Amino acid sequence: MLEQIEGLLKEAKEWQAKNAQEVEDFRLAFLSKKGKLNQLFDEFKKVPNEKKREFGQELNKLKGKIEERFKSLQEESQNSSVTSEDKPDVFLPEVPESLGSLHPLTITKRRIAEIFARMGFSSEDGPEMETDWYNFTALNFPENHPAREMQDTFFISKGEEQKDDTLLRTHTSNVQVRLMEHTKPPLRSIMVGRVYRNEAISARAHCQFHQAEGLYVDKNVSFKDLKDTLLHFAKEMFGKDTKIRLRPSYFPFTEPSAEIDISCFICKGEGCNICKKTGWVEIGGSGMVDPNVLVSAGIDPEEYTGFAFGMGIERIAMLKFGINDIRLFFDNDIRFLSQFKGV
Ligand code: DAH
Repeated sequence: MLEQIEGLLKEAKEWQAKNAQEVEDFRLAFLSKKGKLNQLFDEFKKVPNEKKREFGQELNKLKGKIEERFKSLQEESQNSSVTSEDKPDVFLPEVPESLGSLHPLTITKRRIAEIFARMGFSSEDGPEMETDWYNFTALNFPENHPAREMQDTFFISKGEEQKDDTLLRTHTSNVQVRLMEHTKPPLRSIMVGRVYRNEAISARAHCQFHQAEGLYVDKNVSFKDLKDTLLHFAKEMFGKDTKIRLRPSYFPFTEPSAEIDISCFICKGEGCNICKKTGWVEIGGSGMVDPNVLVSAGIDPEEYTGFAFGMGIERIAMLKFGINDIRLFFDNDIRFLSQFKGV
């Protein structure tokens, strides 16, 4: 028995531990329930009674020494946590910090607001949850008129009259009326925000998207002012050689009305897939503010005229950055978003 005690003490003294795991191995080997020390205590039970006193004392001493060794191994491993093996290599290249980037829609929205700010347009905001009055009726959509169907609306609740229904705005034109109600002309503003339509989601359409609405009301505002403003914007946004084309159209809130096309800056008008071989791409609608809309907002149409336009922000961002699927804007896939770093 004494030999076994000496043997175990020697083994414990020679045990080396380089790290916390190896200290734990020591504890398991010597001090756990099934460890070597307990095995020796089991054997001690078989020792004849007359030897029990002598061996018992030695065994207790051994226990104390093994526990001490365990403690000192623990301390050693803590003090030398930076051993030669895991010392940092100061010559390794640093791990780059990954910074976030602006969303491509944010980049586009800011760029649009910036271009118009330089032409004297202030930036305004309006509610996404709106009443029928601001989204339709005040914009000269007659009650139950089929023009309301042009925009598949998400309704929230019914009001006493149609104009009191609440809905998610289908365009940013709602802000026009709100603005004119509390600001006397001259006024020149750009309104950028999110809009909603009950459309099937595909690569080209989404149930939520963004628009930039523009409004200019003053004395003697003419269609030429509208054309010049849109042309200047197109050149600033898409490049100096960009041309615009205004195609006659219909919107209840403008008369006359026109769709805005820009010359395809990808093929320079030659015809490509983006412009469907026509050389032109549509970016929004525009027109001279209908006198009925001015009246709804409390402005005298005999004294003032105005122009307005609305453009799709996703459409502009897709053209500008060559994005071919509108759903990418809302997936928030980091592989997509990180491509806009530093843009
Ligand atoms: N609100 C129209 C739409 O969403 C776009 C539009 C057309 C806005 C003509 C205007 C405008 O201000 O004058 O389809």
